[in-house]
Amino acid sequence: MPAMGNSLRAAALLAFVVLSILVSLLISSVQQFGARVSHFSNATLPGDEEELASLRGALIYQLNERRKEIIPLLLPEDGDENGELEETRHSSRALDSTLDYNLWNEITLGSRKAHLDEMGCDSLVDMQAVEILGSGYTKLVVKVNLAAGQPVALKLVNEQGIDMGKCLEDFKDPQGCRELVSYKLQKEIVLLQRLKHPNVIKLKGHCAGGQGGRGGGGGGGGEGGRVTVILEQGNPLQMIQLLQSPWEDRFRVCLDLVRLLHFLSQSPLGSVALLDFQPRQFVTVSGELKLTDLDDASAEETACRTEADCTLEFPHRNFTLPCSARGVCEGLNEKRNIYNAYRYFFTYLLPHQAPPGLTHLVDHIMNSTGELKADINQTLEAFEHILLLYKSGLHLDNLPPSVVKDYTVMRGMGTSGNVEYRCWPSYSQQGCVLSVHSAKEAAHICNSHSQCNSFTLTGQKTWTGRLLASFRSSFSHLVPDGTSEVYVKETKALEAPTV
Ligand SMILES: Nc1ncnc2c1ncn2[C@@H]1O[C@H](COP(=O)(O)OP(=O)(O)OP(=O)(O)O)[C@@H](O)[C@H]1O
Ligand SMILES: *[C@@H]1O[C@H](CO)[C@@H](O)[C@H](O)[C@H]1NC(C)=O
Ligand SMILES: *[C@@H]1O[C@H](CO)[C@@H](O)[C@H](O)[C@H]1NC(C)=O
Ligand SMILES: *[C@@H]1O[C@H](CO)[C@@H](O)[C@H](O)[C@H]1NC(C)=O
Ligand SMILES: *[C@@H]1O[C@H](CO)[C@@H](O)[C@H](O)[C@H]1NC(C)=O
Repeated sequence: MPAMGNSLRAAALLAFVVLSILVSLLISSVQQFGARVSHFSNATLPGDEEELASLRGALIYQLNERRKEIIPLLLPEDGDENGELEETRHSSRALDSTLDYNLWNEITLGSRKAHLDEMGCDSLVDMQAVEILGSGYTKLVVKVNLAAGQPVALKLVNEQGIDMGKCLEDFKDPQGCRELVSYKLQKEIVLLQRLKHPNVIKLKGHCAGGQGGRGGGGGGGGEGGRVTVILEQGNPLQMIQLLQSPWEDRFRVCLDLVRLLHFLSQSPLGSVALLDFQPRQFVTVSGELKLTDLDDASAEETACRTEADCTLEFPHRNFTLPCSARGVCEGLNEKRNIYNAYRYFFTYLLPHQAPPGLTHLVDHIMNSTGELKADINQTLEAFEHILLLYKSGLHLDNLPPSVVKDYTVMRGMGTSGNVEYRCWPSYSQQGCVLSVHSAKEAAHICNSHSQCNSFTLTGQKTWTGRLLASFRSSFSHLVPDGTSEVYVKETKALEAPTV
């Protein structure tokens, strides 16, 4: 049975994860400063020493490169909005020569930790791992309940991942590779700190291997062989499932994405591009979209001399953007994000089953993002406009008010002995449950379904505040229900039940 095999494998992996966290906690508290050089000394053959030394040198070089990537992200914001990016760049160049280990240690391990995020290694004591939420090239994500009962997601180095595998092949040094791959987690921690937004997964804390830091340690970097990131728990985005959901939910994902991209275009780090832009980089938390994979976020601008230097290449489409007076491609990061949102999200989620009164606005968004004619501000405006119309029911203006007059309403009532029929896409598997703005819209829908003879406004609401309406063929009797209203089609109500 494949399901059994999977869960066994998951259990084995989990056991490994939990063990390795505990072991690393133990090791790191016992390990002495500088001890990690020792495992290099047990070389296989004397003749290989030179080769090992050069491998080690190459690995240390890589470790330093990764660190240099992170340091500019650590610098405090310099009030001055426009000069910020340049200043950051400038300072990072100054730091390169001295590589500020103290700053690094302070941020990842030391005194500022409590300020940066709340939970530390002690929160992980006695936690219960539930299941694996996902894994990728670099990271493994585990669903756990902390001792206090709080559900969180933990991100760790994926020991079986491609990143780790490649590194081991190149450098043959498990401890060094773990450290190298951990830099991606460290970068993510820093980015999650700097890019706080409702549509970015919330960082709850982290646990870094060594306590107390390593001061200015000898080139190999901090003791951070093990890093565990503690995150808000989400559900991996399931595109297939989303494709079968109501338009309202699919619209929400797209709107959230646009709100995120709007924020990223003017983030504290400058205009940020998501270089690896795929649905698997996102999760949902109570239906809200959140970015969870930030290690491929980049605030770098592309330098140019002419606009020929500013091309955005996609599989089916290339774009050329202007080269600004200060020699950078204008809006390149922002436009890259918009087009990726169009090709990975909008094309699948947005047009299909859009409410009739909104299709022209949806089509306009599809065209302006697919052609990169709109910037992110205009795109956000267009989305918020649709949301406003949809919430207020203004897009339904041309429905005749008379439709609801064909129905008898019974307030404070529900139904039982229902004969349901199915519709698509329904909020319920058993029957036909759709969101409506008002009884008028529900009556209009009921009229368009040949099986429908009555509907109930349940009192439940969707995320936009629209009402959930349950449509059915017939029911046997009414029952008191303070929150709901039953509408019965007058003409057919008199007929004998047909089903
Ligand atoms: N907070 C979370 N809650 C639930 N699931 C999560 C969370 N964070 C990540 N995941 C899941 O774990 C998977 C792996 O995480 P992540 O994308 O950070 O790893 P990665 O190694 O960088 O992956 P990739 O190879 O896609 O770059 C994600 O695709 C996502 O489905
Ligand atoms: C060194 O390696 C050999 C095999 O290559 C092994 O038998 C030995 O236990 C190792 N020594 C240490 C101290 O790890
Ligand atoms: C995009 O540009 C690349 C490189 O210039 C070229 O090879 C490719 O054919 C172009 N694609 C399209 C769809 O124009
Ligand atoms: C946008 O509209 C133009 C004109 O109708 C059309 O030629 C083009 O293919 C559309 N582009 C997209 C991406 O929908
Ligand atoms: C986009 O909107 C922001 C405010 O949300 C504003 O600061 C910025 O100047 C706008 N950009 C453009 C190009 O209009």
